[in-house]
Amino acid sequence: MVSFTNVIFVFVLLIVHTEGKGHLKNKDDIRDTVQKLFDTIRNMQATRDTVAIPPFKYAEFRGVYESDVKLYFHGSPVESAMRYGFGIWDNNMFATAWVTSCLLEAYHYGNAPKPSEEQIMMSIEFMYKNYHNKNLNYTNSIMAFWPQLYDEGYQAYVSTPVNLLAMFNSTYLIDWDTVYQELDKAGLTEIATTIQHLLRTREGYAHVFHIPPDFDDTSVNLGLGSLLKDLITEFPQSSVLWQSKNSNLSSVFNGLKHYAYRPNGGDRRVNTIDTRTYFYMRRFLENATMENKSVALVTTWVQDLVDIKTEYFKGIITPSNVNNVDITVSANALFGITNSVLTGLVTTEVLDDPEIEQIYVNTSTMIAFQIHTNFSGRPDLALTYYPSVMEFYWFVSRTYAQLQRRHRATGLPHEVMYTVMSTLEEALRTTMTEDVIKQAVYNGTEEAYYDDFLGDGDKDENNKSIRFGEDRLYTTGMAINALITTWTYYDDNTGHLHWHSDTPDGVKKTVSAAVTFLNQHILSGEYEPWNAFFSGSFKGHGTSWSEYPANRYEFFNGTKITDIHHYYGGETIRGMEGVVNETWYQEELKARHSPIDFHGFNRDPEYFPFWCSEAYTYVISMLALSTYDNIA
Ligand SMILES: *[C@@H]1O[C@H](CO)[C@@H](O)[C@H](O)[C@H]1NC(C)=O
Ligand SMILES: *[C@@H]1O[C@H](CO)[C@@H](O)[C@H](O)[C@H]1NC(C)=O
Ligand SMILES: *[C@@H]1O[C@H](CO)[C@@H](O)[C@H](O)[C@H]1NC(C)=O
Ligand SMILES: *[C@@H]1O[C@H](CO)[C@@H](O)[C@H](O)[C@H]1NC(C)=O
Ligand SMILES: *[C@@H]1O[C@H](CO)[C@@H](O)[C@H](O)[C@H]1NC(C)=O
Ligand SMILES: *[C@@H]1O[C@H](CO)[C@@H](O)[C@H](O)[C@H]1NC(C)=O
Ligand SMILES: *[C@@H]1O[C@H](CO)[C@@H](O)[C@H](O)[C@H]1NC(C)=O
Ligand SMILES: *[C@@H]1O[C@H](CO)[C@@H](O)[C@H](O)[C@H]1NC(C)=O
Ligand SMILES: *[C@@H]1O[C@H](CO)[C@@H](O)[C@H](O)[C@H]1NC(C)=O
Ligand SMILES: *[C@@H]1O[C@H](CO)[C@@H](O)[C@H](O)[C@H]1NC(C)=O
Ligand SMILES: *[C@@H]1O[C@H](CO)[C@@H](O)[C@H](O)[C@H]1NC(C)=O
Repeated sequence: MVSFTNVIFVFVLLIVHTEGKGHLKNKDDIRDTVQKLFDTIRNMQATRDTVAIPPFKYAEFRGVYESDVKLYFHGSPVESAMRYGFGIWDNNMFATAWVTSCLLEAYHYGNAPKPSEEQIMMSIEFMYKNYHNKNLNYTNSIMAFWPQLYDEGYQAYVSTPVNLLAMFNSTYLIDWDTVYQELDKAGLTEIATTIQHLLRTREGYAHVFHIPPDFDDTSVNLGLGSLLKDLITEFPQSSVLWQSKNSNLSSVFNGLKHYAYRPNGGDRRVNTIDTRTYFYMRRFLENATMENKSVALVTTWVQDLVDIKTEYFKGIITPSNVNNVDITVSANALFGITNSVLTGLVTTEVLDDPEIEQIYVNTSTMIAFQIHTNFSGRPDLALTYYPSVMEFYWFVSRTYAQLQRRHRATGLPHEVMYTVMSTLEEALRTTMTEDVIKQAVYNGTEEAYYDDFLGDGDKDENNKSIRFGEDRLYTTGMAINALITTWTYYDDNTGHLHWHSDTPDGVKKTVSAAVTFLNQHILSGEYEPWNAFFSGSFKGHGTSWSEYPANRYEFFNGTKITDIHHYYGGETIRGMEGVVNETWYQEELKARHSPIDFHGFNRDPEYFPFWCSEAYTYVISMLALSTYDNIA
């Protein structure tokens, strides 16, 4: 193993991260674990800017919590070694925003230590400095996943993941033929082939880096601002800093309205969607059409089919040009809207706007529909960028919990919030809860854990399956958070969480068993503290837009493309427009042999990029343990 890793180290210029891994012995005491997690997380924040010296040192921005881009190599021992070896420090907004939000929540709703204002403010500064949309000539809180840097060629600010680009650049300086010969000699042809494939696809990846701002980072930032508003007496400086850096929140609400997916309207700017979205969303859309209901949903990207025609040439490009709906993004948007209203960050009147009201209500109905239908059988498409189902459940439950908390204290400030609360409540308490309880894997009677997919698709030298459970800690923590957030309420008077009186025993038992596991193992070093909190939308067979039917295929100038087998390059629009009848759709599915079922990410031998943040695993685990500890 060591020699494989070294080979990759030298030739593919990758860095193995070892920091941040706990080597502490188990402690039964939850508070002790929480304190250790708190210290671990604090030490994972970059406290100064670090200049890149490619390929040996990656750029780090002050205030960021580490997350790494990795490739999901899986299968043979060589492939698992490559998975361990490959990791590129990535300065995105998402991981840091979530770590910061969880620090605040674990302190407020749980028994976690109080983070310092300095720790929180460093992250706010980091987000403000780099992630607001710079291509708008007005103050805005439209956020981007990666920093935008001015590009002379494009005459625009372009999304720039500096470390990924530096890594790509350095591959052009290497004499690869010599490398391949060396690898062949060492019997590592498999690695040589993988490198060849990676190099062939590098231009394609570089293209995908040019992403527009998105409603996910935008919503998560809004959610963070609302948490800080709620905690203004505890974190006055951070709260004021956030508000001073986000002084035009109408930019968010105007954006949500302008870019919402409206399949039934005739507006061709926004009535067309990614073919993969249509595949999983169509039952919901067909149902709405049958009941004569209109639909408006939050999209992922802040770009429509008019924008793309100019922005494409400025290096601002939705991957595959056509917008999509990712239900995790939808869940974060619900939270941002809900909590910004509840905390008074924005006025309740925003919900009087019929367009916002519609997006708010339709998004919650759609989320409930997806929970009830097992994501229409396609979690790989519905959770487009965030493959974790447990994370999605938790994101949904956060909105419900805030509505419950206010409902119990003073009542909700707007009628429509009751509708959203009861829609989410029904889905979370029935199907979601049953699913989470069912998925628990018991080891004995006292301990239960959850696995997603990372590290569970490998074979050893004897071709025997092995499960490394690399996302076990993360998934278990998320499952606990989903259940606790759904079935407890926070009492502002006592400062404690309380189980709802009708909480089923199965919920309490599952939570307790999962907490036991997490407390035992989170810092024991037996499992990687990994996650796939984010990923490329393309994750192997069945996840490409080209595999699904489209009824709109045209050049940017509107000319229809009739030869569907010819690839015309990037300047085309291919998507599903409006809502079609199922007969037509089924015929198209058959004609192009579209994949109907999802068999898990380990079934397909293909690798794909995913984003892993150890700090995020630790902080959501701290949230799980500290809130459990605070249930009265
Ligand atoms: C801002 O940009 C828009 C569109 O690009 C333009 O119409 C407008 O004049 C600009 N406003 C200012 C104040 O520069
Ligand atoms: C990558 O290489 C290009 C062309 O040589 C250069 O303009 C760019 O600054 C480099 N980017 C990074 C991040 O090193
Ligand atoms: C706030 O954002 C809106 C766009 O949603 C823009 O029209 C307005 O000019 C911005 N206001 C300020 C003060 O920049
Ligand atoms: C449409 O959805 C509603 C609520 O989700 C459900 O009650 C109804 O049965 C569905 N109709 C069809 C035809 O599936
Ligand atoms: C939907 O609208 C059509 C035409 O306007 C009407 O014929 C039909 O009865 C309506 N269906 C429902 C369920 O309201
Ligand atoms: C979407 O929301 C609007 C306004 O609240 C409502 O009229 C419509 O029926 C909703 N659509 C669905 C599918 O629930
Ligand atoms: C949900 O769908 C996934 C993937 O298609 C499948 O593996 C799983 O068994 C389904 N779960 C239920 C409860 O039907
Ligand atoms: C299950 O429990 C046994 C005994 O405590 C332990 O040795 C084993 O590692 C546990 N398995 C897992 C997957 O945690
Ligand atoms: C490894 O096992 C799988 C079934 O699990 C089998 O299909 C495959 O042929 C085996 N490969 C080798 C090299 O034995
Ligand atoms: C539209 O663009 C395509 C591809 O560039 C070109 O072949 C076609 O002639 C154009 N049509 C019109 C009407 O300009
Ligand atoms: C279904 O849609 C197709 C394509 O728009 C159309 O040709 C066909 O007549 C429709 N069938 C039904 C039953 O509405």
